[in-house]
Amino acid sequence: MSNKILVTGGAGYIGSVTVWALLRSGYEVVILDTLAKGHRQALPETCTFVKGDIGDTSLVRQVIRAHGIERVIHFAAFSLVGESVEHPLRYFQNNLVQGIRFIDTCVENGVTSFILSSTAAVYGDPVHIPIVETHPLAPKNPYGFSKLGLEQVLTSYRQTHGLNVAFLRYFNAAGADTMNGIGEDHTPETHLIPIIFQTALGKREKVFVFGGDYDTPDGTAIRDYIHVSDLAQAHIKVLERVGGGLKHLAYNLGIGKGYSVLEVLTMAREVCGREIPYEITGRRTGDPPILVASPDRFHAEFGWEPQFGELRDILASAWQWHQTHPEGYQGEARGTA
Ligand code: UFG
Repeated sequence: MSNKILVTGGAGYIGSVTVWALLRSGYEVVILDTLAKGHRQALPETCTFVKGDIGDTSLVRQVIRAHGIERVIHFAAFSLVGESVEHPLRYFQNNLVQGIRFIDTCVENGVTSFILSSTAAVYGDPVHIPIVETHPLAPKNPYGFSKLGLEQVLTSYRQTHGLNVAFLRYFNAAGADTMNGIGEDHTPETHLIPIIFQTALGKREKVFVFGGDYDTPDGTAIRDYIHVSDLAQAHIKVLERVGGGLKHLAYNLGIGKGYSVLEVLTMAREVCGREIPYEITGRRTGDPPILVASPDRFHAEFGWEPQFGELRDILASAWQWHQTHPEGYQGEARGTA
């Protein structure tokens, strides 16, 4: 089997951390990314990088054939819940329509294994916590629908073409890969933890807490934050077995503990030793009140524990990155493998 892995969206936050982890594990990596959201600076100078779109069928065909690609990790997608509610077509077009075209091109050109970057957003509002993989699938925003759609498309290709598939349903990716200088930098930034540390650095006046009237102990929304390097390692574990040894199609990736927005703020304040002003405002449309994973399926099957089991350590790594990259990747040189 070819040792070369095609990673779409490999210049993004989770994608780039996974690329470095793959290289460290001895894989060769071919990255396909438009750089519309990702950062070339997050990648090693020496990696094989193709600037392009997953929906560009002739480019994808050429990349797969030129490199003899058999396994794909598909990160490329728009991934903001709030934006997806405001611009549903953008999400259905980019994630789902282009994604289907991409999957078909992969299969037509010899790809045998496909790992999809999926999301807790496929579950919608939880009917029980923690969320197990058999929980009802009822997305409440177009982002979740677009990822669930891709899971279903892949299930069909599995049935008709024997494609080996795995869906990794992330909860909230967080933290930084400080060893390789990779952190969270989106434009515009909408994620809680980068916003908190930008506020700590004085780049924002305050954090707006979206919703103080949820049915949670302190009224703010609860999430399960998993370190981005643990996510990357999980992809490698799955890659090793996706060719036949997986018991299931879908796996939750979280740490199984939930923290409210106010708890994250308090802990972040302790980690950085600075004041972080905040104001409670209205809820953000499309946000479930609570999302906490049961990671038991993944843990049982892979005998794997996250290296970062405590939110404090996740926040500390993020703070380290934000301090050393106050402008994000702007002005950064490319890394060396
Ligand atoms: N939040 C605030 N203020 C902010 C930003 C966020 O209060 O300025 C809150 C959100 O309302 C939410 C929590 O902080 O309750 C976490 O929000 P993020 O934007 O950091 O992350 P999300 O939970 O919205 O989204 C993440 C991923 C998505 C994935 C989703 C699963 O980014 O890709 O988890 O629901 F779909």
